[in-house]
Amino acid sequence: MRIMTVIGARPQFIKAGVVSRAIARTEGLDEVIVHTGQHFDANMSQVFFDQLGLPKPDHLFDINGGSHGEMTGRMLTQIEAVIGSDKPDVMMVYGDTNSTLAGALAAAKLHVPVAHVEAGLRSFNMKMPEEINRILTDNISDILFCPTQVAVDQLSREGFDQKPAKVEWVGDVMQDSALTFADMAQMPSEVAGQTRFVLATVHRAENTDVPERLAAIVHALNTVHRDVAPVILPLHPRTKKMIAQAGLSLEVRTIDPVGYLEFLALLKDCALVATDSGGVQKEAFFFTKPGVVMRDQTEWTELVENGANVLVGADAEQIVAETRAALNKTIMDDGSLYGGGTASNRIANSLKATFF
Ligand code: UD1
Ligand code: UDP
Repeated sequence: MRIMTVIGARPQFIKAGVVSRAIARTEGLDEVIVHTGQHFDANMSQVFFDQLGLPKPDHLFDINGGSHGEMTGRMLTQIEAVIGSDKPDVMMVYGDTNSTLAGALAAAKLHVPVAHVEAGLRSFNMKMPEEINRILTDNISDILFCPTQVAVDQLSREGFDQKPAKVEWVGDVMQDSALTFADMAQMPSEVAGQTRFVLATVHRAENTDVPERLAAIVHALNTVHRDVAPVILPLHPRTKKMIAQAGLSLEVRTIDPVGYLEFLALLKDCALVATDSGGVQKEAFFFTKPGVVMRDQTEWTELVENGANVLVGADAEQIVAETRAALNKTIMDDGSLYGGGTASNRIANSLKATFF
């Protein structure tokens, strides 16, 4: 049975890495990897293939930049062509990026069943491109792999119990990845020796593309760096561009985006995490670090409910106050929320049982 995997953005390389290994271990499953090119810098793309042992893409496009419609449209055209030539039995997509929606939509229109990893997540903010992508993708998927019980319950509320689509709790593949690679973590040389620091990441359009939110976050991180604890910020290209355009000045320790093994070392060694990333807010929890989440909503509500993470929006005062408070928090992960590293095997087994 042939699975076509469409990926294109940094977190998707990480998620697909462990699932791809599980597919390779499962007899009868064969994978074709399509990389849309949405992320293309070496430190946003190639490094993950190198570090995670993800096979070289069978098809590599160069589709990035432009408007959402333009990017997604170009992806649709090219993915449609490789579905035609490679004839997959199943299309597998991850998360909520434009590459996710393009892969799912191209397949669904050609009657190729779609498997969605990270199904059922909602922020209930339809201004986010990710929310639109994930709702549409879920609704044209045939098998919905949910990372949390909250996601399963959400799909049930949306009526998926009455649809032919199959909804399965499998746990979170990002926890599988963190557990698989934690021992190989290597601290980036430019910040080696730094202790008791805040690990920060910022890239959400809702923060970077709204000038007052971006200014508040930059101001807050500068204040934390000066008054609370040193801040290390691997700077996403979108954020770098928007900060330069806005004429803002970052006084924290910025570094270029790092590879996954380097990021894992930062997660292991930091005191806490301040982020607007979907993945990083969970990785903080996997490494039992408190999270200060610079968003108004989160799809990972269980971590706010259990007190591991706190939502602070783009409110400078709250970011600083909650960062200070989080320094004294203790976090425990007993593995029950996200499956404890079993998600990718569940996915491979389910694909085989469903489609083979
Ligand atoms: C995308 C996803 C977002 C995800 C994020 C992961 C969508 C709508 N957004 O956001 O859900 O959280 O990836 O990081 O799909 N750029 C570079 N080099 C790169 C990659 C991007 O310079 O290697 C630049 C692009 O040219 C563009 C900007 O960064 O100007 C944003 O890239 P884009 O892929 O559109 O969105 P992200 O913010 O990365
Ligand atoms: N990450 C990385 N290097 C970095 C920053 C993040 O390898 O410099 C990894 C991180 O470990 C996580 C993933 O990238 O697994 C998160 O991606 P991102 O924040 O870009 O996207 P999101 O999860 O918000 O969609």
